Amino acid sequence: MIRKAVIPVAGLGTRMLPVTKVVPKELLNIVDRPTIEYVVDEIIASGITTLIFIISQGKGGIIDYFDTNLNLRSFLKERGKFDLLKKVEEVEDKIEHLIEVRQKVPEGLGHAVLMAERAVENEPFAVVLGDDLVDGDSPCLKQMIDIYNHLSTKNHSIIAVEEVSREDISRYGIVEGEKIENNLIKIKRVVEKPSPEEAPSNLAIIGRYIFDPVIFKFLKKIPKVHGEYQLTDAIQLMIENGYEVYAYLFKGIRFDTGNKEGFFKTFLHYATKNPKLKEILIRFVKENKIC
Ligand code: G1P
Repeated sequence: MIRKAVIPVAGLGTRMLPVTKVVPKELLNIVDRPTIEYVVDEIIASGITTLIFIISQGKGGIIDYFDTNLNLRSFLKERGKFDLLKKVEEVEDKIEHLIEVRQKVPEGLGHAVLMAERAVENEPFAVVLGDDLVDGDSPCLKQMIDIYNHLSTKNHSIIAVEEVSREDISRYGIVEGEKIENNLIKIKRVVEKPSPEEAPSNLAIIGRYIFDPVIFKFLKKIPKVHGEYQLTDAIQLMIENGYEVYAYLFKGIRFDTGNKEGFFKTFLHYATKNPKLKEILIRFVKENKIC
C-alpha cells in the first residue's frame, strides 16, 4: 500500500523569475487552477491520502491554498455567491491529511526528500515533483503503484522515465538498465544531468518516484555536490547496495511547467482540452493571421 506522497516544492523557481520573487511557481495558474493542483489531483486519483509538502520560506501560500479559509467561506455565503463557495470548498476539502515540512536551507532535492523522513514513518512512499505534470488516460502515479504492487521482488523502488532528445539529456537524471518487460527496465545505473556524450541512454527521470524507505539511509550517506544533495546519487547507492530499482515508461504526456516555454505549452495543452477555449484560440490565430 502506498499511502503517502512527498511533494518537494521548496525550490526558488529561478527559471520563472521575476514573478517567483513573490509567487511560488507552483501557484501559477494553468487555465483555471494552479499548477500544484494538477499534481495534487493526480496523487489523490492514485489513492493516496497523506500529502507531505516540503516547503521553504515564501512558499507557505501553497499550504494556504489547500487550507480552510473560514473568513472567505462566510464572506461568500453572506453575499450569496454559492458557486464560488462550492469551488473554494472543493479545493479546501481535497487533501485528507496535509503535512507541512520546512526545508530550512536550500540543499537540493535529495535533502528536501530527507526532510520527510519522520512524516513518512518507515513505509514505502511516493515522491512527486511539483512542476512536472503528466496528462493521460490513467494517472501516472496510479500506473506506477499498480506496477509496484505487481512486482514480486521486495523493497523495490520505481522511477518514471521517458525518452528525451539528445539536446535535452543534460537537464535530467538518466538511467541505464536492462529491459525486463515492455515498459519496464531494471536499472543498473543512474547519472544526474550527464552530457549527451557521457549519457548511457536517453531515458530521462521525470518527477515521479516510488521509494522503499531505505532511501533515507542512503540520502544520509551521499556527498554534497555543488552545494546540493542529489536524489539521483542516493538512488545509485541504493542500487549498488543490492536494492532493485525499476524504470517505468509511463503512458501519457509530460509537461515541465518550471520554465517559461514549458509553462506556455502546458497552458495551451490544457486550454485546448476545453472545446470553448480551443475555439477561442483557433479564431484568435486566424483573425490575427498568426499562421
Ligand atoms: C530533478 C532531478 C532529475 C530529474 C528532474 C525531473 O532535477 O534531480 O534527476 O530528471 O528533476 O524533472 P531538477 O529539474 O530539479 O533540476
